[in-house]
Amino acid sequence: MNTNMKENNYSRRSFLRIVGWGSFFATLGISSVGFIRFLYPNVLFEKPSAFKAGTLDEFTIDRTSDYQVYENWKAEHSIWIVREKDRIYAVKARCTHLGCTPNYFADEMVFKCPCHGSQFHCNGENFAGPAPRPLDRCKIFVGFDGRIQVDKARIYSFKEFDNPGAYVKV
Ligand code: FES
Repeated sequence: MNTNMKENNYSRRSFLRIVGWGSFFATLGISSVGFIRFLYPNVLFEKPSAFKAGTLDEFTIDRTSDYQVYENWKAEHSIWIVREKDRIYAVKARCTHLGCTPNYFADEMVFKCPCHGSQFHCNGENFAGPAPRPLDRCKIFVGFDGRIQVDKARIYSFKEFDNPGAYVKV
């Protein structure tokens, strides 16, 4: 065997050794990542269902009106807060027909659904279109810090509108 062949054999062996160890460490690395990932559960981090809406005195009502609709939380939470003379409640901005998002028309004081034309009074009561029932409401209460909180996870349908939690007395 001449010197050239010896060198070729040596470099081929070195190359195979490097590839072998490289594969070993790559496999070890991948399985370690898989094992570490296995230690953490699959958790979906969702936005909390409750939000703070402000203090009671922020929800005023005109003496001449029966209702005042606050739209501040519609974009982020799909909720209108409605003030009546003696109560405040959170109306869910979801049409009870097929779930589209209605819009509030302050000049007419009605919610109108753009999908099939359902219309609702400020208190959520349906009066036109195919919607089968009034708009739902969400849990509303005054927290320890004196601020109004709305919890969208608890829904009240129209038969429960007088239940505790469906409104805040003012
Ligand atoms: Fe609102 Fe059909 S979804 S009227």
